[in-house]
Amino acid sequence: MNTVKTLRELRAAISQARAEGKQIGFVPTMGNLHAGHVSLVEIAAQRTDFVVASIFVNPLQFGAGEDLDKYPRTLAADQEKLLAAGCHLLFHPDVSEMYPSGLQSQTRVIVNGVSEGLCGASRPGHFEGVATVVTKLLNMVQPDLAVFGEKDYQQLAVIRTLVRDLNMPIQILGAPTQRAEDGLALSSRNGYLSTEQRAIAPALYRSLEEIAAELRRGARDYTRLIDAAQARQRAAGFEPDYLEIRNAVTLQPAAIDDRHLVILTAAYLGHTRLIDNLLLELPAQ
Ligand code: PAF
Repeated sequence: MNTVKTLRELRAAISQARAEGKQIGFVPTMGNLHAGHVSLVEIAAQRTDFVVASIFVNPLQFGAGEDLDKYPRTLAADQEKLLAAGCHLLFHPDVSEMYPSGLQSQTRVIVNGVSEGLCGASRPGHFEGVATVVTKLLNMVQPDLAVFGEKDYQQLAVIRTLVRDLNMPIQILGAPTQRAEDGLALSSRNGYLSTEQRAIAPALYRSLEEIAAELRRGARDYTRLIDAAQARQRAAGFEPDYLEIRNAVTLQPAAIDDRHLVILTAAYLGHTRLIDNLLLELPAQ
């Protein structure tokens, strides 16, 4: 697996793979890779012939006071994991390669609708930063297929929307969230948790499972379900940010007769903000 830092080197390597008739798969990341990222690369490797991954901690998607500076940079360990997962080429650009004219004068991509609310409300500018860097990366790599985790469910919806709206001929594949044995969704930010917080953290997913169980039993008073689940999050030691039941396709607040639902939450454990979601298909009544 080669690691390249410039767009020129990236394009040369991809042109060669294309000339050999290879289909290109792409997995964009910010590094500090865990088994969730590895599963995305493995999926790309099963479906395409030449897998490109990127590691770029994108300053445009971090707000003031967020963890841009302390976001873990673990290149050597990441390279080993990518190689073992079947990656052929790693793109690891510097900020100046991605944003040669500076952050301020960079053209931005704004995805209306699905970017609003949820993480979009709590992290102003975040999805503009994500949409901008993902658009640039997709244009740089020009893959046939790009794989993103369902763990960042709203981000996946934003990316599907921008690819559709900007007519990019790229298949976007969402891959299931990978979890620890106790249910905690794998995330680079889990590394910020103390031992005590790590023991509490699985309660976040349990709060989603409890709502899902009630919905399966026929409960439809969403407000009551959410209030009760947020009370349980608080009792476990979380400071809830949001907890919502939405239509899994449109991301609009769920209507009472919606069957394909996603329950999404974000909550703080100390200074660490964790997000999770649960997809749910209710039987037709
Ligand atoms: O999910 C991530 O790691 C990032 O938001 C992404 C998609 C690589 C864009 O920086």
